[in-house]
Amino acid sequence: MPNSRLSRRKLLVGATPLVVAPALARLALDGDAKAAEHTEHTEHMGHASHAAMFGEGAPAVGGPRDLDALLYPPPRLAHRPGRVREYQLVAADHDVEVAPGIRFSAWTYNGTVPGPVIRATEGDLLRVRFVNAGTHPHTIHFHGIHPAGMDGVFEIVDPGAAFTYEFPARPAGMHLYHCHSTPLKKHIHKGLYGAFIIDPATPRKPAQELVMVMNGFDTDGDGDNNFYTVNGRTFFYARYPIRVRRSQTVRIYLANLTEFDLINSFHLHGDFFRYYPTGSGDAFEYTDTVMLCQGQRGIIEIDFANTGRFMFHAHQSEFTELGWMGFFEVVD
Ligand code: CU
Ligand code: CU
Repeated sequence: MPNSRLSRRKLLVGATPLVVAPALARLALDGDAKAAEHTEHTEHMGHASHAAMFGEGAPAVGGPRDLDALLYPPPRLAHRPGRVREYQLVAADHDVEVAPGIRFSAWTYNGTVPGPVIRATEGDLLRVRFVNAGTHPHTIHFHGIHPAGMDGVFEIVDPGAAFTYEFPARPAGMHLYHCHSTPLKKHIHKGLYGAFIIDPATPRKPAQELVMVMNGFDTDGDGDNNFYTVNGRTFFYARYPIRVRRSQTVRIYLANLTEFDLINSFHLHGDFFRYYPTGSGDAFEYTDTVMLCQGQRGIIEIDFANTGRFMFHAHQSEFTELGWMGFFEVVD
């Protein structure tokens, strides 16, 4: 969609002057209805400096605990081969508020975008009961190792129907799940995806654990994202910084489920981290920026050297401006 693409680029070029000279910026966008519409959105977001985009100044929806269930994974359970881990996922059409006043008609697992965090330990038997309460045929396709009949590609679950996925959880790592009905692009960008953690039999060392699913929202249906987030709301962790202790490793289970854009990325200010691709081995890169295509994921481990406020965001600055930005508040 070269046209909408152009609109968004134009918007971003025009976005900063909006603060000081809205009339001028409007003039520049004149005749481009889509860009004007986007302008409304970004004005809403407020293109203040990043320093001002903190606390109450950050245009995020809701209260400080709203995303806890998506940010903090369920606790790890010790290795016990053959134990059954049960989850229920219900697909339903559901409007979500992505940014203040901006609603997105999502298709959800359990009412949120991303869906719930699924966690198991290597050797568990994972049993996921899936109920389709939506208006379109859906499935759950898990990344990992499982029998063909559990792959969520051929076993299409019609509205009103249900299906139970059952397979041993392996291999250890950070994975993901998503709907695999067609058109696939639509079923993913509408919001049917989530994080899927498999803990190794020998546990990772203790850490403050977080989950971040990077995504985008095409709120005007033009095949191009208007907003970017982690865990579903723009600037949420700018408004409510994630409080962590310097004394303990911060472990982030990171996945990219952004549709339309080729890549997404995670960049940390003021420190470096170890990045374990797919979380499936011991090899890591020591860096402050990682880039992921859709479906890629990994584990980040940060040992903060300093206390204070540190930003994290997509290193596509465009994504940052459109919502994918937050802060850690590191304390002793
Ligand atoms: Cu679907
Ligand atoms: Cu996939």
